Amino acid sequence: MANGYGISNWQDAKTIYAKLHKLTSMPIYSISDDELDRVLKHFDENCKQSKEITTEAKQYIPGGVQHNLAFNYPFPICITKAEGAYLWDKDGNKYTDFLQAGGPTILGSNYEPVRKKAIELIETCGPVTGLFHEAELLLAKEINKNMPNVEMFRMLGSGTESVMAAIRVARNATKAKRVIKVGGAYHGWSDQMVYGLKIPGSRFFLESHGIPRSCYGTTDEVRPNDLNMLESMLKINKFRGGTACVIVEPVGPESGTRPVDFDYNAGVRKLCDKYGCLFIMDEVVTGFRVGPGGAQGYFNVVPDLTIFGKIVAGGYPSAGGVGGKKEFVSGMAAGVGTMMKRAYVGGTLAANPLSAYAGYCAIQEIVKTNACEKAGLAGDRLVAGLQGLVDKYALPFVVYNQGSIVHLECSGAMSYDFSSLNIAKSAIPMLKTKPEMLRRKVAMEEMGAAYMAHGIVTLAGSRLYTSLADTDEVIDEALNKFDDVFKTVTVCKRNLDK
Ligand SMILES: Cc1ncc(COP(=O)(O)O)c(C=O)c1O
Repeated sequence: MANGYGISNWQDAKTIYAKLHKLTSMPIYSISDDELDRVLKHFDENCKQSKEITTEAKQYIPGGVQHNLAFNYPFPICITKAEGAYLWDKDGNKYTDFLQAGGPTILGSNYEPVRKKAIELIETCGPVTGLFHEAELLLAKEINKNMPNVEMFRMLGSGTESVMAAIRVARNATKAKRVIKVGGAYHGWSDQMVYGLKIPGSRFFLESHGIPRSCYGTTDEVRPNDLNMLESMLKINKFRGGTACVIVEPVGPESGTRPVDFDYNAGVRKLCDKYGCLFIMDEVVTGFRVGPGGAQGYFNVVPDLTIFGKIVAGGYPSAGGVGGKKEFVSGMAAGVGTMMKRAYVGGTLAANPLSAYAGYCAIQEIVKTNACEKAGLAGDRLVAGLQGLVDKYALPFVVYNQGSIVHLECSGAMSYDFSSLNIAKSAIPMLKTKPEMLRRKVAMEEMGAAYMAHGIVTLAGSRLYTSLADTDEVIDEALNKFDDVFKTVTVCKRNLDK
């Protein structure tokens, strides 16, 4: 590992796909009936205050929780304290935190040096004024220092908005219409990007309710890690409006849940050049997590536009932005009354002093503490330990990581791929396999609940982010908890479809 990057070795994508394929062809493994009873009893007895408050929340908040990936089986847990590698709930239970707020807190939760700076700023100018603050320049320069290809940076309110903005810039710059994304990838929840979510080839079948077809009529989906299919799509698009941009998650869809070959991003770059479209690298997760230079630094590939989110505001709200080459990013210039044909973007609270300053301070701390490398080593230690447990109990689970992004696939619920099928055919297997997918989802919920009952918070039971706060002791303590869960896992005989 060099230059502060957190990925010690790039794991072969084909080997991981082969393991995932094997996993999905096996019976489902989950915790035993006895353990499930114990887990449910644990929540009833030890999480009473969480249950009470989240039951009341259901009357006022749709579904009772406001995060899609919030733990909610058997009921959501109410967190009251966060520090370093740990979280505490309202009932006083302590958890090892591998959710990391979904990725932004690579320095660990509520990191004191950044918190102190944020409080100083709030005490002097408050969180927002609507006018320029020096922190905006500090952040843009800090990003440029670490990612030299990000010559300019426009801060926005979220990753979702930033993807919308980048696509607008690409269409404005190329005068072409179509956007190619990779099946299964997540680029936020804008109308045009809620297409092919989670399962490659699923197109509009899964989550596009409430979105008119015309909104995603110019979005195309290609199979993960498949440059041939990408080139075919680019060729076809020449005859139907042209391709404005290709957008990718650089470590693979869903933060590497579907991994890519090391050379994949370089291949995308070449194809974008060949077909005259922009290459948008979505670094919402990888920006300042894979390394201070982002995935683009790690892969040594120069995108035209880079999407930021999460860590860019240091774990504080309003995390988003678009950066990249001057010729493109300047196409989002702000100000009243400009006559240029710009891509219009906005946001009352975007680039507020608090978010900009917290982001600036956090990136400085990440560099100073070598956080990406340390978090990556923690990820390696966690994966080695988990693999040891998988072997010890002869489980079919698949474990791998891209540094501090750790994947623990227990059911392979995310491993389906319908990209090869045409629209008419793809609907049929989707519908046929729906009960299977549901069954796997429930198995994931059960495993997630078992981890939680043993004091480990994960992202949907299958992803774990590590941070600077994850010392060897933290990881080893967590592995003991995983051991307690894994020793109860067996072939699942419950009828999970009910
Ligand atoms: C790769 C990627 N892009 C975009 C987004 C959307 O960002 P936000 O949640 O800030 O809208 C996410 C969120 O998880 C993401 O992982």
